Amino acid sequence: MTVERVALRVGEDESVIWLGRGLLEQAADRLVSPSGRFLLVSSRSARPATDRLRPVLASSLILDVEIEDSEQEKTLDAVSEIADRALEKGVRRDDAFVAVGGGVVTDLVGFAAAILLRGVAWNAVPTTVAGMADAAIGGKTGVDHRLGKNLLGAFHFPRSIVVDPSAAATLSDRDYRSGLVEAFKGVWIRNAKASARAETLLPAIRSRDEEALLELVSDAVRIKADIVSSDPKESGERRLLNFGHTLGHAFEAAGGYRELRHGEAVAWGISAALTISRDRAGLSEDEAARVREVLARLGPFPEPVRSAEVLRPLLSRDKKRSASGLAGVLLEEIGRARVEENVPEAEWLAAAAHARLPPALQTRSNPT
Ligand SMILES: NC(=O)c1ccc[n+]([C@@H]2O[C@H](COP(=O)([O-])OP(=O)(O)OC[C@H]3O[C@@H](n4cnc5c(N)ncnc54)[C@H](O)[C@@H]3O)[C@@H](O)[C@H]2O)c1
Ligand SMILES: [Zn+2]
Repeated sequence: MTVERVALRVGEDESVIWLGRGLLEQAADRLVSPSGRFLLVSSRSARPATDRLRPVLASSLILDVEIEDSEQEKTLDAVSEIADRALEKGVRRDDAFVAVGGGVVTDLVGFAAAILLRGVAWNAVPTTVAGMADAAIGGKTGVDHRLGKNLLGAFHFPRSIVVDPSAAATLSDRDYRSGLVEAFKGVWIRNAKASARAETLLPAIRSRDEEALLELVSDAVRIKADIVSSDPKESGERRLLNFGHTLGHAFEAAGGYRELRHGEAVAWGISAALTISRDRAGLSEDEAARVREVLARLGPFPEPVRSAEVLRPLLSRDKKRSASGLAGVLLEEIGRARVEENVPEAEWLAAAAHARLPPALQTRSNPT
């Protein structure tokens, strides 16, 4: 088995990302706990992965619990519950959590680890494609507040992240495809070669070939690790990772977080951002079409709400807003993106109204 190691350095801290097929069974030396004791927190849907990992930790586990992992459960109450269980078991500052699950689980457990006893170590074992390529990497942890998503949180880097693409084998087709959008986003903003490679691999990735998935995830992880190392607190370059998210967040909210998966909303957000990128950042028609074609082949995705009346108030809540417009990430060419600070709201709304993915491909990938 080939195992890759990617180090993400932030000041004194190092987050090490391990990637390999079948790594779950061989995670023993890769999960880190200063005391040697672990607290395992996972979700029901991640059970097949947890069952593969548990024997590795067996004798050093002081806690082994399952939590709910719907977005509605990503709350301070859930963090409090994890803290209760850990404190009841006598958790100490030199123990470490292991979070097994999608982004909801890793965000929650990472945040619990950040605040429990003023910070204990944690490790992430992502079981979704979005988690492997994005959510588990980069130290952002947190929960939702009734006034908005991810409003409470902390930067707390996992000591180790174990990425085994076979953990995604049980994902629904819809979750799998929507997670791929975030992986492609990573290569589009930063690496033209990786993007071309991913396009070639797309048929294999779509048919759930784990080696092909691992190649794309590995490129996305390296790109994210590189960006986060140079800008851990998102004051500059890290903002590029928000490609497709200005409208993506609004589309997601407009559907009440039920109609569209995050990655699906981001796919539509990217499609709209491509139009603005053509107008403002010199993106060629050809390259915009290439990105749209990949998105179409990852779909079909449910249609977003496009109405300006619905989207306007959601856009105006965006954290990236200034007086004259909204910041967004534009693609100059495949592999190179930039942040544009003040794109007028009207341009976003027009792009949202007209965001399209090639219809022929949408139909071909879903004959019904
Ligand atoms: N911290 C970050 O930098 C960051 C970045 C992106 C997203 N996020 C957060 O991550 C969350 C989204 O994460 P996600 O896309 O991984 O989705 P998710 O955690 O909501 O999981 C998606 C679905 O897949 C199920 N699931 C998980 N693993 C499975 C498996 N192996 N087999 C079958 N089903 C499985 C879950 O139960 C859920 O229904 C959001 O809360 C978002 O805010 C965080
Ligand atoms: Zn995202």
